[in-house]
Amino acid sequence: MSRIKHVHARRIWDSRGRPTVEVDIITESGALGRGIAPAGASRGTREAIELRDGGTRFGGLDVLHAVQGIQQEIAPALVGLEVADQTKLDAILIALDGTADKSRLGGNALIATSLAALHAAAAQAQLPLWRYLSNDRPVQLPLPQVQIFGGGAHADRRVDVQDFMVIATGARSFVEAMEMTAEVYRHAGLLMKKRGASQGIADEGGWWPAFAHNEEALDVLVMSIEAAGFVPGQDVSIALDIAASEFGQNGRYTLGLEKMELDTDGLIEKLLRWIDKYPIVSIEDPVAEDDAKGMIAFTNAVNGRVQVVGDDYLVTNAKLVQEAAKQKACNAVLIKPNQAGTITETLSALTAAQEAGYATIVSARSGETEDVAIVHLATGWNAGQLKVGSFARSERMAKWNEGIRVETTAPHPQGFAWRALQRI
Ligand code: PGA
Ligand code: ZN
Repeated sequence: MSRIKHVHARRIWDSRGRPTVEVDIITESGALGRGIAPAGASRGTREAIELRDGGTRFGGLDVLHAVQGIQQEIAPALVGLEVADQTKLDAILIALDGTADKSRLGGNALIATSLAALHAAAAQAQLPLWRYLSNDRPVQLPLPQVQIFGGGAHADRRVDVQDFMVIATGARSFVEAMEMTAEVYRHAGLLMKKRGASQGIADEGGWWPAFAHNEEALDVLVMSIEAAGFVPGQDVSIALDIAASEFGQNGRYTLGLEKMELDTDGLIEKLLRWIDKYPIVSIEDPVAEDDAKGMIAFTNAVNGRVQVVGDDYLVTNAKLVQEAAKQKACNAVLIKPNQAGTITETLSALTAAQEAGYATIVSARSGETEDVAIVHLATGWNAGQLKVGSFARSERMAKWNEGIRVETTAPHPQGFAWRALQRI
């Protein structure tokens, strides 16, 4: 147990070269915790608001006001507080901000502070963060979802679907999942080159999607799994993030690449055809955040055959998760700490999901940093799954590598959540 002595905030830079907020919290006995806010590009409208300065500097994205808010308002309120009392600390942050959407002090300021305190408390307890969070419960390393092609808002809308990912469903350890993914990623790159489609990588490290239509990406993904020597659907399966809020609202969806306008039923039919044709095991945001009817219809139509993940649809919000569970919309929840704004609220959303029997996937954002906290959250909270982006760029690899460290450093978590998808 130790009290908070210092709270330092500064502006640093994220993986897209944009400003973001970093907070250091130091306890009276000298333990240091550091939290960094990530940033999304395809954000849900109900997420905690990022406080950005506006104007012309850095495209209006500077965070000097958020940093100032931490120094002038948050720091004085936290100094002297017991660092391990995360619930109290987060309640103070929420009350200080005073808005429903965290727009006054900024969700970015709040999550960086909340994470810094969590890290400091683990450092104070002299435990790795995952172990501090596990509270001595048995926990497992999460099953990774790894992007191979990046699309949507992360690749200039070159294809409509945002993430074409793989899940190493045949892996029996985190290390093995990484090995299998590395081969698929490598072969996907070789295939792109062979087709004359090699155009670099997208925001999260996935290959730039130089495809004529969305299905071509799925075809090349299956070819990549086979070229890597794996059986699609058995060793390695496909996960998609449609991120449908990016190209649809009011029940109308415009697929730019295929120059096609679909209504909710049309989009659902198309996705169901993909599920029949390809070894897909997970689909995130199949319809837009405003399309509750569509989400209920899709979840009902797939009837447990695939994981249906709510991201923009549920925005890491316990109330929205409970509501969705009542309506039988989705069967899994993406958990992004900065959508909620504090660690306590993130954990509430995760707990609500677990209580409803929903699968949980802790996730990074498209704008990331060297911060690896989400790997520890996914493990220590026993989330079951982890989504970090692709298998390139150090802000992504730092997280995969951290998972390898957690798995191979004693004391170990109790195994690997290779059955995570079977819970659906
Ligand atoms: P974002 O997207 O971080 O750009 O909002 C990631 C996702 O949709 O999962
Ligand atoms: Zn998403």
